[in-house]
Amino acid sequence: MAKWRKHPQKAIMRDEIAINPLFSRHGEDLVPRFKLSEKGLLPETAYQIVHDELTLDGNARLNLATFVGTWMEPQAQALYAEAADKNMIDKDEYPQTAAIEDRCIHILADLWNVPDTQETIGVSTTGSSEACMLGGLVMKRRWQQARRKQGLDTGHPNIVFSSAVQVVWEKFANYFEVEPRYVEVTPERPFLTAAGVLDAVDENTIGVVPVLGVTYTGVYEPVAEIAKALDDLQARTGLDIPIHVDGASGAFVAPFLQPDLVWDFRLPRVQSINTSGHKYGLVYPGLGWVIWRDKAVVPEELVFDVSYLGGHMPTFALNFSRPGAQVLLQYYNFLRLGWQGYYQIQKTCQDVAHFLAHKIAAMGMFELLTDGSDLPVFAWRLTADASDHWDLHDLSHLMRERGWQVPAYPLPAAMTEVTIMRVVVRNSFSMDLAHLFLEDFQRSVQYLQNLDGPFPHVIRPASPFHH
Ligand SMILES: Cc1ncc(COP(=O)(O)O)c(C=O)c1O
Repeated sequence: MAKWRKHPQKAIMRDEIAINPLFSRHGEDLVPRFKLSEKGLLPETAYQIVHDELTLDGNARLNLATFVGTWMEPQAQALYAEAADKNMIDKDEYPQTAAIEDRCIHILADLWNVPDTQETIGVSTTGSSEACMLGGLVMKRRWQQARRKQGLDTGHPNIVFSSAVQVVWEKFANYFEVEPRYVEVTPERPFLTAAGVLDAVDENTIGVVPVLGVTYTGVYEPVAEIAKALDDLQARTGLDIPIHVDGASGAFVAPFLQPDLVWDFRLPRVQSINTSGHKYGLVYPGLGWVIWRDKAVVPEELVFDVSYLGGHMPTFALNFSRPGAQVLLQYYNFLRLGWQGYYQIQKTCQDVAHFLAHKIAAMGMFELLTDGSDLPVFAWRLTADASDHWDLHDLSHLMRERGWQVPAYPLPAAMTEVTIMRVVVRNSFSMDLAHLFLEDFQRSVQYLQNLDGPFPHVIRPASPFHH
């Protein structure tokens, strides 16, 4: 039994916590943080305690490190609150939520130029990570099936991507026991190249994963060139290696900002595509999508049935229960924005990225790696002779003092000596805010330049790549 129950004085204090005025309660230590309290609290008290603690978190709108949505309009928020109780797996109980999920899949398949939207198959997920796992799993099973049919060994599958790939692919390789083959990026070509792919693949390759919008810099990997190289390889050797495009961010940007870029199902070799509804799909976290070009691609053994309107519905997912509200928010955005709306938002983000990137480059001591021409993301490094007494970590620290969260981090393997800073421009980072950002940025750089010695007390931040 908890101590306070035996102790009358403490029991009285405990009751005081349950009444207002809230901030006159005695002793925060009476609210246990790491075990259940005996009696619980009034809802107002519990709310206030959690609310107060969250004031120590960074301001999500000023978080320029994340790709994930931090703003939706009030009508979407209302819908979110109304739909918070929907479980996506209860297809029988919530048939309209299931129908709306299906519509979203068709809308995305159409946006990505699938040859026949009726033949396509896809699912919503908790994010791109789950979507990538499913895309990878299909490639592994199909490779195994094909090898078994030919009486060949299936013990050594591998998967090919660049060393700048997002951590989810390393996880996929680890969890599903596939050898990861990293094509190392270089300063001249900081992305997956067709030549690098050809060097890495063999008959045990289950698939190749170009990324539309490398997480470090926002640059698009050349999907069409890689597809062409794999077409030629097949013509020469008979090896038929599929592509899964990781479009976590780019699959919601390229259709609007670079409609002529051929990266999607227009390339017959592209078997599947994932995206994050919660990134440039403009929905709150966690929502992802994965779509295959046609049903025949997904092995039946991976599909399970759930009951639906007295019948059955096929499902393919890692989770069972998960929120349905985000799927409804995605559909809300599709209805609300249409093509023009998405275009305007992504274009505004790109304009802001270009504006800031070029202003930062004009300051003289920074060199751009990207300027927002692919994803509305830009990254820069210090020029070699910029400063001997401060670095980008110090600048990141100073920006944080004003609330801006701008990460500084090393590039991936083979380029780890290069430290860069990156800004992800998302819906709601307006030109107005961008001007304020620039003022703070210039002031911070000026401060660092004026220092006589090193900037003190910097705690090096962790890598931002969980985003
Ligand atoms: C290229 C890429 N793939 C996958 C992911 C993982 O996505 P999610 O956070 O939606 O699980 C990310 C996240 O930033 C990413 O940038």
